[in-house]
Amino acid sequence: MSELDPNVHPDAKREVEILAAESELYAPAAEVVSNAYLPDYLALRQSALADITAFWDARATEMIDWYEPYAQVLDDSSKPFYKWFVGGKTNIAHNALDRHIKTWRKNKLALIWEAEDGEQRTFSYFRLWQEVNRFANVLKSMGVKKGDTVTIYMGRVPELSIAMLATAKIGAIHSVVYGGFSEQALASRIEDAQSKVLVTCDGAWLRGKTINLKDIADEAVRRSPVVQSVIVYQRTKQTVRMEQGRDYWWHELMALPIASSKCTSEVMDAEDPLFILYTSGTTGRPKGVLHTCGGYQVHIATTLQYVFDLKDDDRWWCAADQGWITGHSYIVYSPLILGATSFMYEGSPDFPYPNRWWSLVEKYGITILYTAPTAIRGLMRYGEAWANRHDLSSLRLLGTVGEPINPEAWRWYHRVIGKERCPIMDTWWQTETGGFMITPTPVVPLKPGSATLPFAGIDADVVREDGTPCDANEDGYLVIRQPWPGMARTIWGDPERYVQQYWSDFAKQGWYFTGDSARKDQDGYFWIIGRMDDVIKVSGYRLGTAEVESALVSHKDVAEAACIGVPDELRGNVIHAFCILNNGVNGSDSLADALKQHVRTEIGPIAVPAKINFVDSLPKTRSGKIMRRLLKAQVLGQPIGDTSTLAD
Ligand code: WTA
Repeated sequence: MSELDPNVHPDAKREVEILAAESELYAPAAEVVSNAYLPDYLALRQSALADITAFWDARATEMIDWYEPYAQVLDDSSKPFYKWFVGGKTNIAHNALDRHIKTWRKNKLALIWEAEDGEQRTFSYFRLWQEVNRFANVLKSMGVKKGDTVTIYMGRVPELSIAMLATAKIGAIHSVVYGGFSEQALASRIEDAQSKVLVTCDGAWLRGKTINLKDIADEAVRRSPVVQSVIVYQRTKQTVRMEQGRDYWWHELMALPIASSKCTSEVMDAEDPLFILYTSGTTGRPKGVLHTCGGYQVHIATTLQYVFDLKDDDRWWCAADQGWITGHSYIVYSPLILGATSFMYEGSPDFPYPNRWWSLVEKYGITILYTAPTAIRGLMRYGEAWANRHDLSSLRLLGTVGEPINPEAWRWYHRVIGKERCPIMDTWWQTETGGFMITPTPVVPLKPGSATLPFAGIDADVVREDGTPCDANEDGYLVIRQPWPGMARTIWGDPERYVQQYWSDFAKQGWYFTGDSARKDQDGYFWIIGRMDDVIKVSGYRLGTAEVESALVSHKDVAEAACIGVPDELRGNVIHAFCILNNGVNGSDSLADALKQHVRTEIGPIAVPAKINFVDSLPKTRSGKIMRRLLKAQVLGQPIGDTSTLAD
């Protein structure tokens, strides 16, 4: 376990701000409380914690339809491999679509989409259901069966959601790879999931330019030749190479008679796999977090309902990308399960101008906006005049996720966007948790920068290395003490790594370790400090130092590399890399640029280091582990602390 790192508070300014924010309390307005889905949430939260299985049992019947009821809520006989809703039969596509078609919701808008160039498309529940059925039949005709994996690599288009839902409908397992990833990231994820089918796009729009996704997909398939068929959705109409017998156009397949608009959802066991989502960990190898069909649905539907208080007349905008867990849980699945209307925007927040998002809020009458601190800070930078040009009065709730929100950005979001009327739901959770874990609901008094309290039925705490609880305001390890339905069930193909990664630090107590440090204040409010492992959050994106390091050493001139996260006002953190070059190669600005470009093509633009330093040696322990902590202390000009394990 990593020792508590004194450098996790490198940003002294943030520290001072947080101390001030701790005593700043925003109580909900009376009308917010009286309109809330659960006005007495705080009382319910207490009783839920006393008996978590009773709480989740009630939610599973309230939120979800089951083809066959479950016999047991929680099976903890093979810890930490918990099973939820044992014996229950369900399908997420049934709850998200099939069941709504039989009600008035058939005609309700499920999805409103706006392209970066302003084009609009809308899908009623009926139309979305038909499209999903048709694509499900296409996948079947390609030989995809229950339990097979399908890799999806697309831009932010409705067809990405359709492909996910269609895969789930036929009982296959999707692995969505974020469209901002590049060749090697995609190749290694295809390889690990052993997908025979890849769904992609010709290209994606970004800031008025197109990115050729098909080229990247081709290169990834060349590196991971398990793929037999590639389905290409035409988005940008740019010229792409189509390989005969392997590549098929989405629109051509959807026009064939096999693409019938009727398709029965496969009956799935609650514990059958639903999807794999790769995330960054402590090694360079991708880590396929596995979620299953039953508990995941219960968790995401409950949390969205309680926290964002969705009502039938809401227009929900989760401004994430479907390719991350936030998109899986809160763009694609839970809004549909609740029968809500979602809005989705393809492009950048500030394209063509910094008012794009605010104009969309006004144009579509968005009532709830959920985004990341980095986006807020990015838009804040342009000044409030851009937001003030628009009527934002439709908004009633705001949300944030992905990294700690600094109180200054929180207050700006609250005042300039929410006009001091809209409570901000700061939701702490992870790819591994499936859904929200520490979060307020609209009735919880807020403190800027705090995710407030563990959600109902979630048993979170901040503890010392030996498991004893921390005192108020003492930094410690953020742990979850009891299982929850949306928890990851394993790491795809590597159950040992699952146990080692999440359940070994507090094995004696049987607790899940999140990898985050946090503290609780005197009111029991949680303040997340940040990652304690080699994971870096850059603009809210989760990256592993090891991934960036292996991309760097795959360059012919680099012998060894180490990466660290350095605090950044806008992006939360940026990456600094330290490279030892091969004999005879000299460091130069042009080589640094070439290395950045190399990381961009291997992993993607989000992983590009902000700074590359050429060094002769790296600080290592006697056992050969790079001491990134020392590099970080040096960059931040801080005391280097204990160096007794340093090799030389
Ligand atoms: C961080 C994203 C502070 C945290 C859903 C966690 C947060 C990691 C918050 C998971 C928040 C997420 N406040 N930190 N509200 N939300 N984090 O898997 O460090 O991409 O461990 O899931 O993001 O990142 P992931």
